[in-house]
Amino acid sequence: MATFNLNINGKNHEVDVDPSTPMLWVLRDNLNLPGTKYGCGVAQCGACTIHLGGIAMRACSLPVSQVGNRPVTTIEGLSENGDHPLQKAWLEHDVPQCGYCQTGQIMNAAAFLKANPNPSDSEIEAAMNGNICRCGTYVRIKAAIKTAAASVS
Ligand code: FES
Ligand code: FES
Repeated sequence: MATFNLNINGKNHEVDVDPSTPMLWVLRDNLNLPGTKYGCGVAQCGACTIHLGGIAMRACSLPVSQVGNRPVTTIEGLSENGDHPLQKAWLEHDVPQCGYCQTGQIMNAAAFLKANPNPSDSEIEAAMNGNICRCGTYVRIKAAIKTAAASVS
């Protein structure tokens, strides 16, 4: 066990865990932030996507010891009132089906739009390619990202 000081969603947290513990479990089990989902556990599905220093990362494959002082953002901290342009567009397009993958989809899309606020269709497809949705909501996800991009650009 070791002590780590983490900046999560703008607040400081101290956790005492094994250094190899993936951030997914630190968030869910130690910090009671269950919005980040466990899908595959091996960086293949994107369900666990968070931001580390503003970059989309897979929390299932990110040991807590590698976080350092870079700020972490989870879906709970993406916006104060759930009114990030993507969250509004998700509602507008009624994107989720079962909902399980949607946290990861939104977090990946948020980091992508920050880097590329006016993406083409193929850029959206390439950026979202690694986020799997077992319900097949891909068409609505793409439409919502386009709506969000139009509202911020
Ligand atoms: S749970 Fe992390 S990528 Fe699937
Ligand atoms: S909405 Fe069910 S897995 Fe994507």
